[in-house]
Amino acid sequence: MSASQELPAGGAPAPDATEGDVNRTAARAAWQARHVGPATRQLLEEDAQHFLHQSLSTPCLDALTAADGIYLTDVDGRRFIDFHGNNVHQVGYRNPRVIAAVHAALDTLPFSPRRFTNRYAIELATRLAALAPGSLGKVLFAPGGSEAVGMALKLARAATGRHKTVSMWDSFHGASLDAVSIGGEALFRRNAGPLLPGTEHVPPCEPRGCLYGCGGSCNARCADYVEYVLAKEQDVAAVVVETVRCTDVQVPPADYYRRLRASCDRHGALLVLDEIPIGLGRCGRMFAFEHYDVVPDMVVLGKGLGGAVWPMAALIARRELDLAADVALGHYTHEKSSVGCAAALATLDCLELDGLLGRAAVIGQRIRGRLDQLRAHVPLVSDVRCIGALVGVELTLPGGEPARHEAERVMYECLANGLSFKVGQGNVLNLSPPLVITDAQLDTALEILERALLTVSAE
Ligand SMILES: Cc1ncc(COP(=O)(O)O)c(C=O)c1O
Repeated sequence: MSASQELPAGGAPAPDATEGDVNRTAARAAWQARHVGPATRQLLEEDAQHFLHQSLSTPCLDALTAADGIYLTDVDGRRFIDFHGNNVHQVGYRNPRVIAAVHAALDTLPFSPRRFTNRYAIELATRLAALAPGSLGKVLFAPGGSEAVGMALKLARAATGRHKTVSMWDSFHGASLDAVSIGGEALFRRNAGPLLPGTEHVPPCEPRGCLYGCGGSCNARCADYVEYVLAKEQDVAAVVVETVRCTDVQVPPADYYRRLRASCDRHGALLVLDEIPIGLGRCGRMFAFEHYDVVPDMVVLGKGLGGAVWPMAALIARRELDLAADVALGHYTHEKSSVGCAAALATLDCLELDGLLGRAAVIGQRIRGRLDQLRAHVPLVSDVRCIGALVGVELTLPGGEPARHEAERVMYECLANGLSFKVGQGNVLNLSPPLVITDAQLDTALEILERALLTVSAE
């Protein structure tokens, strides 16, 4: 395994630490020395031997044997309540509806080659179009979110005859080179070589860390800046935004998207919203943009669409954008995956029939209520941001510096006690619980988190 590193104290976050926790830190090595048994160690060594090492994910922390409901089980028999799940697990792992639907598709139509369609794909496209508001009604599927973002970029070019984009610093839209070009995290851009031309970046709406110093009471200067760039350039194809930035749960105020929508309309740019980790119920609505009074020109979904089983993503575009019949927008091998579409249909059933959108709001309020109480006597917790069941817990030192070591310590303390989540932007605990979690399970998870926060703030 590669040498461990220390997270820098204060200053800008280490580039590695923006998207998730870093896999080469001393704290990671210490956790493994303490909690990983010989059988797991053997697997981790084999994994490290055979996989290319890469930032964040390989070498790995631990090895799993099972995922069920809200739990992951590792080789040593330890169970984790999973508030991470790469945001695929709104309906929990091995959700019976999803598993039955996947089995049925596997038993009859395990693959659908290009040139053919199938009833699963048609039904899913119909259903997504019916769920999406306004004229969002034409769909393409892809095996992953990055590819779906790529399709949105190609369609924006075809529809506008322009190629430029405006997107946000510190955003993430996937790990492929086109997605990295519009993404704003240094980890993915640093030393990457030439990225797509015309991909301009602007400051994101980040109510707490706002570059324009709005201090939480938004002055919408960041939206003005988008207007300024669109007006200057006059040839921007699309403004691409994560409706809510997932890594550290940045929730723009109501007016932000109305202003972005108006600017796009004024200057002929398309508004593309990336809801890959935060759509499909995570934020308490089917689409997070339903919290705002706007309809984008395109929205991109992924992750949870495959029901924590299958890689599935979707681009939903306005019907009028169906004007690129001669362009290969996607052309992915698993484009109309019968199994993936079956998993997605069952996922939508779960979200609707089990009332999971409403449940997301209840879960978020319960988490927020408890953490707000804790905040009163744990100053390390400087902010709790919440939309539906997506919660960001920001940790800050008394001098206002981001508490990065502490965030990492809290995470490993929680892992040791059976709760998994990720740390975003270096000092924000990102809590993304399965929406099928019960109140009792949620309370258990919150007790683990509260104890860890108390322990670390007392150190
Ligand atoms: C906001 C956002 N967009 C796009 C992606 C890329 O999705 P995928 O990993 O399926 O390519 C991710 C993945 O984490 C994401 O969080």
